[in-house]
Order: sequence, then structure tokens, then C-alpha cells
Amino acid sequence: MQTRPSLLRVGIAGLGTVGGGVVRILQEQETLLAMRGGARLELVAVSARDRAKARGLLLDGIRWEEDATALASAPDIDVVVELIGGAEGIARAVVTQALQNGKHVVTANKALIAAHGAELAALAEAKGVGLAYEAAVAGGIPVIKTLREGLAANRYVRITAILNGTCNYILTTMEKTGRDFADVLAEAQAKGYAEADPSFDIDGVDTAHKLAIVAALAFQRAPNLDALHIEGIRSISKTDIHFARELGYRIKLLGITSQRDGEQVEQRVHPCMIPLSAPLATVDDAYNAVQIEGDAVGRLFLEGRGAGAGPTASAVVADLIDAARGHRMPPLMVPAASLPSLQPADISGLKGEYYLRLTVVDRPGVLADIAGICRDQGISVASLIQHAHAPEEPVDIVLTTHQTRESQMQQALREVALLATLMAPPQMIRIEAP
Ligand SMILES: NC(=O)c1ccc[n+]([C@@H]2O[C@H](COP(=O)([O-])OP(=O)(O)OC[C@H]3O[C@@H](n4cnc5c(N)ncnc54)[C@H](OP(=O)(O)O)[C@@H]3O)[C@@H](O)[C@H]2O)c1
Repeated sequence: MQTRPSLLRVGIAGLGTVGGGVVRILQEQETLLAMRGGARLELVAVSARDRAKARGLLLDGIRWEEDATALASAPDIDVVVELIGGAEGIARAVVTQALQNGKHVVTANKALIAAHGAELAALAEAKGVGLAYEAAVAGGIPVIKTLREGLAANRYVRITAILNGTCNYILTTMEKTGRDFADVLAEAQAKGYAEADPSFDIDGVDTAHKLAIVAALAFQRAPNLDALHIEGIRSISKTDIHFARELGYRIKLLGITSQRDGEQVEQRVHPCMIPLSAPLATVDDAYNAVQIEGDAVGRLFLEGRGAGAGPTASAVVADLIDAARGHRMPPLMVPAASLPSLQPADISGLKGEYYLRLTVVDRPGVLADIAGICRDQGISVASLIQHAHAPEEPVDIVLTTHQTRESQMQQALREVALLATLMAPPQMIRIEAP
């Protein structure tokens, strides 16, 4: 039986969007949190880059540390909350040193956990302290707790998720307004929904970090970013969104993980066409959603805000309440020492249905050339669309396939790219039925 402390002394490194949200909840809900955690959560010290910055926070009486790593060694701090970000540098130093010094750590840092999760989990276990990171995946949605605790009796079959609000906002807005990608991205940047350098979001890297953590938990492997197949949404045009609609689909950037042939774990991030009736297709704007399939529980669907001060701080403070309650468990569900490294399942072995859009000059024989390439690769066409247009004008030919191997599709794409009638790079989007 563990004894509960009546006081948990907190130090926060990083007072930006999330850090500011955490300070507010700690101050505004002090009594409620003390009741739920069985201990008072006292904010003792904070650190950020610029002390003079106006933050709209009440920080009187709270110690300011110029160097965030000082929080990791301060004798009057029990738990260090790392809300700076980044897989290396100061964030990694704060977390590592805090664990080494026997302090609990709470973080929202997906890049750090995806890159160094196994090593940090082993350190936390060796020191007998907690390493909690609920906010790192899908913000306010309690996906880590759900996988690690609520569904711990299950063998996971597959997890399919929308994990990046910026991408979902862009794709949803493109569909609602009929505008093109670059236009919607520029507007999202102007409104502050997308970063000035949006590549982390729109190239699928942020989704990949979160999926690596989810896959590690679900399939008991050390997180391994190198094992992921990653594609972003830059190539999605309003034409694809339009054809998706015509075919009864919606385009979403999904993170998908499942086990293939026993040992290999599939982890892929790419745009998908999904049926309009799929729960994930109804997730609009900046929302996130996670669909979990377990052998005993069946299918579960969680939807909510994946970013922003309130939702993310909600997850961080829940981790602090766990720390106050004395809840400890291996950060990656099983002891880090027993985690095998994650074997990548090569995307070329994937089997599924595909959407292919080819912009061609419509001359006699074009369709026969495309049909010949499909025939030679053993690709069976499920549907074909070509709208009326003037002769000799560029036209989009869209086909969908029956079940096909990715390697066959890739070979067909290489051959199609050589056609003299092709006016633009071919567009291929995988069709999923989540
Ligand atoms: N924003 C979200 O919605 C969200 C959602 C889920 C997870 N997360 C994760 O939460 C973490 C924080 O994100 P955020 O959006 O809150 O970031 P942010 O607004 O950019 O805030 C970062 C904070 O870190 C401080 N900082 C930077 N370098 C520092 C240094 N060397 N020493 C001490 N402090 C330093 C900054 O100080 P100054 O304020 O003085 O510049 C700022 O307060 C990241 O890991 C992110 O991936 C964020």
C-alpha cells in the first residue's frame, strides 16, 4: 500500500500555450484538484525563455528559474512539468535530469517521447518515479489512459486516427469551400491555426510522432520513428476532394497502426479516402479522433480537441492528479526492458484499394494505354470516371481499384508516368474502410 503525500510540489518548464493553460487550471481549480488527487497541487516554480513577456498569468510568489534545468534539481519540487517542446536540447535535458534526480515528470512532448520514449521510460522505472505524457497524443482525448488502462485486457487489432488538427481543418475547409490547398493553408496561417513553417503538420511528421507512441503502447514495442511510412497532404487538390465526393468518400490524413503477420507492426501516415458513412469521416475542422479495435471490446471511437490551451492542459493536469494519487505504472505499459524494437512493415506489402487520377490529353488510345498498364500489373479496375470535355483538351481520368498490392500500384505509377499523354504527375490515394 503506497502512502499518499498531502502536498505535491510542482515546477513548470515552459509557459506558452499549454504551460499557461496548466497554470490557470492549477490556480482556478485548486480545491477540486486537491479533493480528487488527495493532495494539494502547489505551483512552486516556473521557467520560460523571456521573463519580461506579458503572459496574463498570476505568477506572484512563484519562483522564477532562469535555467529550466534548475527545476530538475530543486529540492522543493516533487514533479517537473515539461512544456517546452522538441526531441532534444533543453526539453530532453530537463526531463532526463528530473528523472535522474528521482522526480516525477509530466510532459506534453510527443517529439521527445516518440524519439526517446523507451530510454526515458527505463530511467523512470529505475528511479521508481512516474513519466506521464497523456497530452502528447490527441491533446484532450485520453488516448494513453484508454490504451494503457481502460482497454488493458485487449489484444489490439488496429488503431486508426486523425491526430493533426491543422491538416483536418485544411482538408475540411477545402471540401466546404471548394478552394485549393495553398489558399486554405495561407488563410489558416493568417488565423493562427497553422504555424508560419507548416511542414511539421502538413507533411505528416506531427501525426507520425503521435502514431509512434500509440503503436508502441498498443503492440508493446519501443517507439521507432524510422519504422513509419509518412506522407502529408500537400499534393491533395480540390479536384481530388471533388472526385472523392463523387465516389462517396472524404479525404482525411490518417495515422494507422496494426500488426501484420505476427511480428511486424504497420505504422503509416498518409491521406486516405474513407467512406462518408465512416465515423472518422464525420470529424470536422480542427478536431482529432481515435478509433481503437480490441479483440474483446470491439470498436471504440473517441473524438475531441487535439490541441489548444484548455484541452491540452486538461490532459497535463489529469497526469498531475495521478501523480498526487500515487498511481505509478510502467510508462509504456510494460517494463521498458522487455520491449522489443519495432520491426517496420514495409508499405510495399500493403494490400488495399486505390484511387488513381491521371491528367491526360485525350487522344485515341489513352484509355487503352492505361488499361494495358493495369492489366500487366494485375490491377483490377473497380470504377472509372471521365467527364465530358472538348477533344484534345486535358482531362482527368479517375479509376479506383479492387484489392491490389501496393508494390503493383507503385510499378503501375512508374509506367503511367512515362506516357506521352500525361500532363501532370499521377495522383494516387489509398482507399481505407476504417
Ligand atoms: N499547443 C498545443 O495545442 C499542444 C498540443 C499538444 C501538445 N503540445 C506540446 O506541448 C509542448 C508545448 O507546446 P506549446 O504550444 O505550449 O509551445 P509554446 O507556446 O511555443 O511554448 C513554449 C514555451 O517554452 C518556453 N521555452 C522555450 N525555450 C526555452 C528554454 N530554453 N528554457 C525555458 N523555457 C523555454 C517558451 O518561453 P517564452 O514564452 O519565454 O518564449 C514558452 O513559454 C510541446 O511539446 C508541444 O508539442 C502542444
